[in-house]
Amino acid sequence: SRSINLAVIPGDGIGQEVVAQGLKVLRAVLPQDVKLETKEYDLGAQRWHRTGETLPDAELEALKGHDAILLGAIGDPSVPSGVLERGLLLKLRFAFDHFINLRPSKLFPNTATPLAGRPDIDFVVVREGTEGPYTGNGGSLRTGTPAEVATEVSVNTAYGVERVVRDAFERANARPRKKLTLVHKNNVLVYAGHMWKNIFDRVAAEYPEVTTDYLHVDAATIFFVTQPERFDVIVTDNLFGDILTDLAAAVTGGIGLAASGNINPTGTFPSMFEPVHGSAPDIAGQGKADPTATVLSVALLLRHLGHETEAARIEDAVSADLAERDGGASRTTEQIGDALAVRVAD
Ligand code: NAD
Ligand code: IPM
Ligand code: MN
Repeated sequence: SRSINLAVIPGDGIGQEVVAQGLKVLRAVLPQDVKLETKEYDLGAQRWHRTGETLPDAELEALKGHDAILLGAIGDPSVPSGVLERGLLLKLRFAFDHFINLRPSKLFPNTATPLAGRPDIDFVVVREGTEGPYTGNGGSLRTGTPAEVATEVSVNTAYGVERVVRDAFERANARPRKKLTLVHKNNVLVYAGHMWKNIFDRVAAEYPEVTTDYLHVDAATIFFVTQPERFDVIVTDNLFGDILTDLAAAVTGGIGLAASGNINPTGTFPSMFEPVHGSAPDIAGQGKADPTATVLSVALLLRHLGHETEAARIEDAVSADLAERDGGASRTTEQIGDALAVRVAD
C-alpha cells in the first residue's frame, strides 16, 4: 500500500540508539509517494519505574491499529529479570500470535567471523514463536528453601507445531535449494520431540520437492560452525531457535547484524520486527552499538508490507557498506546509520 502506519517501540539501552538509525534509513529509502506515519510508544524500563506498567491494555489495543511494529530491545539491569521480557516482549508475541519468528542468516563480507570466505552460507531459521518453554507454564514450590522445586513446562500443541512446520515447508519450497531441516531433541524430549517429528514427516509428504533432514539441537550447533552451508531452511522450537540464532549471528558476522521478524502470517495482527540482540547494557549510551541489525529488520518489515524494491535496496546497501568497511576503523552507531541512509537514497 502507499502508506505505512508504523508503531515504534525503541525500548531500553541500545534499543533507543539503533531504532533512531533504523527510522533514518526507512525515511531515506521510501519513495515520495509512500506516506510514513510513525507513533512512538513509551514502553520499557523507564515506564515501569515510573508507573509499574509493562504493557497496559490500552496500548496493546492501540498497537493493533498499526501496519507493523518496529522494536529496538527491552530489558534493563535495574528491572528484575523477566518482568519486561515476559510482560512486554513475550506478551506482544503471544497477544499478536507471532507464531513465525523469522531469523535469516547470510555470511556478511568483511566481518570478524571464523567462517570468512565461505559465501555459500545463506539460511533462515523459522523459530516457533508462541509455544515451547516460553508460555509461562510452570511454578515454584517452597521457593528459596533447600527443598525448592521449580518446573518450566514446554507446551507444544499439534495446531501450533503444524502451522509453523507448514510455513517452513512453504519457505523451503520457494527457495532454490528446497531443503528443510527440523532441529529438536527427540532422543530425550520424547513427547514433544516425537510429535514435532511426526507432524514434520506427515507434512513432508505434501512437499515431494523439498529435501528434508533432522538434527538433534546439540549436533546442529556443531554444524552451524563446521558446515553451515548444509542449511537452507531450519524449523525449530521456540527456545532452541532462540539459542541457535544467537550462534548463527555470531558465526555469520556478529550479533550487530542479525535481523528478525515476529510474523503473524494471517494478518490478523500486526507483525513486529526487531534485531535479534538485546538492550546490551554493557555498551548502552556510548554510540558503540551496530544499528545494522535494526536496519535489516526494517528491510524485513518492508518486504512483509509488500515493498520488495525498498527492502532489497536496504539489503544491497548493507552488503555494499560492509564490503567497503575498513576493518580497522570503528564507526559510531550514528555514522553507520548515516552511511546506510546515504546509500539507500542514491
Ligand atoms: P544482548 O544481545 O543485549 O548482548 C549480548 C552481547 O552482544 C553484549 O556484549 C552486547 O554488547 C553485544 N551486542 C548486542 N547488540 C549489539 C549491537 N547492536 N552492536 C554491538 N554489540 C552488540 O544480550 P544480553 O546481554 O543477554 O541481554 C541484555 C538485556 O537484553 C537483557 O535484559 C535481556 O533480557 C534483553 N534482551 C532483549 C531482547 C529483545 O528485546 N528482543 C533480546 C535479547 C535480550
Ligand atoms: C530474543 C530474546 C527474547 C527471547 C527474550 C528477551 C524474551 O532473547 O528475542 O531472542 O528469548 O525470545
Ligand atoms: Mn535471544
